[in-house]
Amino acid sequence: MSTFSELVQARRSANNFIEGVNIPQNELEEMFSLARLAPSTYNLQHAHYKVVADKDLKEKVREAAYGQYKIHTASVVIIVLGDKNAYLKAPEIYSGLKLLGALSEDDFDRTIESINSAYSGNDAFQREEAIRNASLSAMQFMLIAKDKGWDTCPMSVPEAAVKELLGLPDNLIPVMMITIGKDNKHKIRPRGYRKPVNEFVEFF
Ligand SMILES: Cc1cc2nc3c(=O)[nH]c(=O)nc-3n(C[C@H](O)[C@H](O)[C@H](O)COP(=O)(O)O)c2cc1C
Repeated sequence: MSTFSELVQARRSANNFIEGVNIPQNELEEMFSLARLAPSTYNLQHAHYKVVADKDLKEKVREAAYGQYKIHTASVVIIVLGDKNAYLKAPEIYSGLKLLGALSEDDFDRTIESINSAYSGNDAFQREEAIRNASLSAMQFMLIAKDKGWDTCPMSVPEAAVKELLGLPDNLIPVMMITIGKDNKHKIRPRGYRKPVNEFVEFF
């Protein structure tokens, strides 16, 4: 991939994948390692991922997701989750900067206080933030995957079924799924209509 613009244009939602392609764990780890650099509110890193390679579990996820065949052929299906409790880790996240002297004791306390006052007891905000921040991370992951030669498709997640299948605690909100593998290129959908810029952007 030579330029970022080319990468953005080359990313498409895969229609189907070549069956039986193994995706090495170290490659996935490398992609997630770059996805860590996505922005997040207060750097709270709300995104959480569950990578499903197990065939039986993958089929159960597929069943719950209207039987979509590409889940069967994908190398793995990744469940993107957002953590409503991400704010509880703020002291841990900011302690490094405090230790380095990049953040004074007062600034540290103020930061933790403002994070707590935004999130604590505000269930709707916790949920919105979980979804907002995990979505940004997921988009970054898909572009990274494309850059590394992998194809993806973001997919709506059957929330209740996935919660049950993975035994998720209530703080982890299923946000979407990402199927990943090698596009079999048998049936590349024509690029869907995109609104012209002046239809979705207003300049003031
Ligand atoms: C949140 C989300 C959910 C989606 N769910 C599905 C899905 O369940 N099945 C599917 O085939 N594509 C799904 N898509 C892919 C869209 O159909 C696709 O992104 C859109 O048509 C634009 O095509 P492109 O990604 O190739 O540019 C989803 C995309 C997003 C962002």
